[in-house]
Amino acid sequence: MTGHETADVLVVGSGIAGLAAALAAAREGREVLVATKAARPEDASSWWAQGGIAVARDHPDRFRRDILAASDGTADPEAVDVLVENANDAVRDVLVETLGVAFDGEADASAGADASAGAGGSGTAAAFADRGDGGFDFGREAAHTEDRILHVGAETGKHVHVPLLNHLDDRAGVEVRTDAAALELIGHEGRIHGAVVESDGDRIPVYADATVLATGGVGDLFARSTNPAGATGDGVAMAALAGATVTDAEFVQFHPTAYAAGPDEDGFLVSEAVRGEGALLRNGDGERFMPDYHPDAELAPRDVVARAVDREREATGSVVLDVGPLDFADEFPGLAAKCEDRGVDWSRGIPVAPAEHFLCGGVDVDDRGRTDLDRLYAVGECARTGVHGANRLASTSLLEGLVWGLRAGADAADAAVDADPEAVETPDLLDRDPALPDDFARQKFRRLRRVMDECAGIERDADDLNRALGVLRRLKGEVDAYVRTRTSRSLYELRNATVTALLVTRQALANEESVGTHYRTDAAEPADPGPADD
Ligand code: SIN
Repeated sequence: MTGHETADVLVVGSGIAGLAAALAAAREGREVLVATKAARPEDASSWWAQGGIAVARDHPDRFRRDILAASDGTADPEAVDVLVENANDAVRDVLVETLGVAFDGEADASAGADASAGAGGSGTAAAFADRGDGGFDFGREAAHTEDRILHVGAETGKHVHVPLLNHLDDRAGVEVRTDAAALELIGHEGRIHGAVVESDGDRIPVYADATVLATGGVGDLFARSTNPAGATGDGVAMAALAGATVTDAEFVQFHPTAYAAGPDEDGFLVSEAVRGEGALLRNGDGERFMPDYHPDAELAPRDVVARAVDREREATGSVVLDVGPLDFADEFPGLAAKCEDRGVDWSRGIPVAPAEHFLCGGVDVDDRGRTDLDRLYAVGECARTGVHGANRLASTSLLEGLVWGLRAGADAADAAVDADPEAVETPDLLDRDPALPDDFARQKFRRLRRVMDECAGIERDADDLNRALGVLRRLKGEVDAYVRTRTSRSLYELRNATVTALLVTRQALANEESVGTHYRTDAAEPADPGPADD
């Protein structure tokens, strides 16, 4: 490891949250380095987001209530207020005005916005006010009580993510560096001073006045996930190892309808928007089952639907999403194409299974994304803002990333310019054992995923969680032994995944109640509501 680099603000990760933080810091005139281990923009969960981005429109109270209800009343009301109160402004400022994202229906809506502003509407509220058919084509997803989701077809993520990346690429003062993995935070006397970043086999300390973690989720901890590969919990683990608090890690959200891929196929998410448009879930006997589980049937909160799909698959062998009630190919051409790629005749129903989707907890942060370590921020999925509590409402993740990213970036921009690389001790990353087999990490990842699937998935109990803890502790011991002699990206990803899996498992064991995504089969009272009254 030779030399070093400096940046005013170092952002680790290039999803919407990290990029929003970079934008906000750059707007304040700070030099920003965005380091992402991804090789391509589409390797970020934000790019993959299908459903859309919820806004408050003219009914912030209703939006607030829906978020709290979906969370089983466990979301932090103050954090929810921050999200709801900033939603319209953040979306309008960054996505509509700065990037020009053309949400479905927007051309008509702009004309409507001018008219309603002229009629006395406030600019921002008017931009998302209800204008019936002539305005934005607001979508609806599970557990939303009104149509409030801005979207671009069912491929919203890439229509937001790519323009944001392009905007930052063109902006002076911001560098987005791909294939650059942060391995370790640089901590000194209670403050975080940047990170050691690996690129092309070279490792270099990047010293920064403020460091923003935006590393995304934990999909690689489970066999089936809707995340892109590489979601190894890096930010959660690096922050925890540096001494930051991680909370609500047991709240791992499973999406009910991922394509049930075979062993050699890639899965994909079948957006909740498809159920929002009327698709029905049927079990292996062809029966519609969701009305037996919840009064809102297919539009029940996500955790309820995921458990129901899991149980029906177990009992009847399979579950399909019946898209007969809608004009699927017309309304969801991207999904229809994915089905066709895999030889699935969607007119007979799309085989679905739950898949790990989103970590609701993470690194504990305040309303500006500050962790409890000086100059360390966390935003997006790796952060626990309190907005989601035990279960996240659909189409609030891009919004949370955007709102907290902007707030954290603006705060980080205020960090005093006082980094002194000479005064800071850099972690000593070693490379004494080049003989480490390349497939070590791959093998251990398989073991980690197996135990997480078996013991810490959709349903858990104390015996299984204790078994997982034993396996993960042994794995951590093995990984640590290697980390003492060898530095490689895959080894650090394995370490990060193991540390994060331990946090998920320990916190799941400590929380003996079933709530939201965390369903303990050994809890005193089951959390599911009873069947619908006819
Ligand atoms: C989906 O499109 O079903 C996912 C939306 C989300 O996770 O918010």
